[in-house]
Amino acid sequence: MTKGALSSHQLRHYRQQGFLVLEAFLDAATLASLRNASAELVSAFNPAQHRSVFRTTDQDQGRDETFFRSAEKVEYFLEDEALDSNGELTVAAERAVNKIGHALHDHIPAFRSFCQLPLLAALLKQLGMAHPVLWQTMLIFKQPGIGGEVRWHQDATYLYTEPSAVMGLWFALEDATRDNGCLWLAPGAHDSPLRERYRVDWHTRRGTLETIHEQPWPTVEEAVPLEVPAGSLVLFSDHMPHYSSANRSDQSRLALTLHAADRSAHWDAANWLQRPTLAPFLLGT
Ligand code: FE2
Repeated sequence: MTKGALSSHQLRHYRQQGFLVLEAFLDAATLASLRNASAELVSAFNPAQHRSVFRTTDQDQGRDETFFRSAEKVEYFLEDEALDSNGELTVAAERAVNKIGHALHDHIPAFRSFCQLPLLAALLKQLGMAHPVLWQTMLIFKQPGIGGEVRWHQDATYLYTEPSAVMGLWFALEDATRDNGCLWLAPGAHDSPLRERYRVDWHTRRGTLETIHEQPWPTVEEAVPLEVPAGSLVLFSDHMPHYSSANRSDQSRLALTLHAADRSAHWDAANWLQRPTLAPFLLGT
């Protein structure tokens, strides 16, 4: 890791704009280690065992038991377009994976040691998180040709705390461009109201996405593409609207994301992500 403390300019930018881009945050060795660990997970993927598709364009009806279980495990999710109407793979298995999550930091040594780096905790502390707890880790593949769109959303829709305390750390493990589906967000919209809540009724084990505020999503003019080279870190807070478009290029766009929240915030019991059996993962300890 190559970067030290944030400058006062960077801190001000984060407060005013709701996000921060730190290019070359990962050094070459760390980047290679995370990519290798990702490739190992993909090579261990057994398509006969994993048929859960991840999509965000159907009001999240696709979220199922595999998704809930993934809070404490390492589960594979497929691209929507990777399966035909008979449930057969339309692409090679290693090209079918949409994402792998959400407890890489608990189960995979390379991700565990990465998340334990003191620099990550120091960064979050500098941004005001006194006791950062890591809730999820996820590899997002955005496969060439079929990598699906992730519609406009705010992370607090899915990871809700009182008060609002979740921060997303988005690491580019490959170059992210407009063509391969880079992240788009709306600078300054981080203090806009939360538009939707996704709540799970644990009696019926069904999740429901509900509109809670009619504030429109940012316009095309308000959104900016974060085209960043591999090794970059993008940080943003949980009310920041963001999306990424489908990848119709021939380049994949691998990213690793972490979501942390301060220990003092109340984690909502209706969040899909619950960790009843794993100890809290305190960053920097
Ligand atoms: Fe997100």
